[in-house]
Amino acid sequence: MDRVKGKVALVTGGADGIGAATARLLAAEGAIVVVTDINREGAEALADELGGLGIAHDAGSEADWHHAIRLVRERFGRLDVLVNNAGIGAGIGDIEHQTLEDYHKVMRVTCDSVFIGSKCAIELMKGRGGAIVNVSSIHGIKAAAHEAAYSAAKGAVRLLTKSVALHCARNGYRIRSNSVHPGYIQTTQMIAWMERADNSADVRAALLAQHPIGFLGEPEDIANGILYLASEESRFMTGSELVIDGGYTL
Ligand SMILES: NC(=O)c1ccc[n+]([C@@H]2O[C@H](COP(=O)([O-])OP(=O)(O)OC[C@H]3O[C@@H](n4cnc5c(N)ncnc54)[C@H](O)[C@@H]3O)[C@@H](O)[C@H]2O)c1
Repeated sequence: MDRVKGKVALVTGGADGIGAATARLLAAEGAIVVVTDINREGAEALADELGGLGIAHDAGSEADWHHAIRLVRERFGRLDVLVNNAGIGAGIGDIEHQTLEDYHKVMRVTCDSVFIGSKCAIELMKGRGGAIVNVSSIHGIKAAAHEAAYSAAKGAVRLLTKSVALHCARNGYRIRSNSVHPGYIQTTQMIAWMERADNSADVRAALLAQHPIGFLGEPEDIANGILYLASEESRFMTGSELVIDGGYTL
């Protein structure tokens, strides 16, 4: 209880999946949560449930970021935690089949979002300190042949996190920036993707075989790591990579 008591925390892509589990956990631990998502209804419904603020927000749009940050500034006057969670593009194609248009689309939501979000958060956090947590992936560490743009975007998020961490530390901002690297997590979308496959039992078995721990993760497994990085318990961590993957990258 109260591990992030009174902190104002914004979670992008917070209406579903890992983002929703994170928003719920941060709220349960005392944070005032701002749920942003391209799905306005979903963001507002969860925010209402948690007593926070819901904002319609395309995380790849600079104009939407300025709007969201203005609302946070007006309502709370500060931001203590930013969770850059929104990301798309898993499973959509190898280098021969993906178009440049697909690539730009994935980069925009998965990586540009972290760049713009970090910029906006620093403006609000400077002087008071804060924590930025970026949700990368195992594919930001270990490439996936069938996910060219996604691997590129998640790898970029990993190093962007470190660049921001160094910049903030050197300037004495007391803003920490860390990344989280989930293995395969059983979100609604992921389960739907597995079940859509003709050979869904084989797909699940193949994924399980890649996770030495013997099971796939749940959104809460990642939310627990994000909570730790958002809280003061991780005050000596910045620029680090928290891998939560059941041994996938070993
Ligand atoms: N699920 C996994 O197995 C897994 C593994 C590794 C990394 N990740 C990463 O974790 C993060 C969350 O993944 P998830 O599986 O929970 O996601 P998800 O596909 O369940 O989507 C979560 C939310 O993101 C929202 N969203 C989509 N596009 C958006 C945009 N442009 N702006 C704002 N919100 C948008 C959706 O409306 C949805 O509510 C992503 O960055 C993903 O790449 C997921």
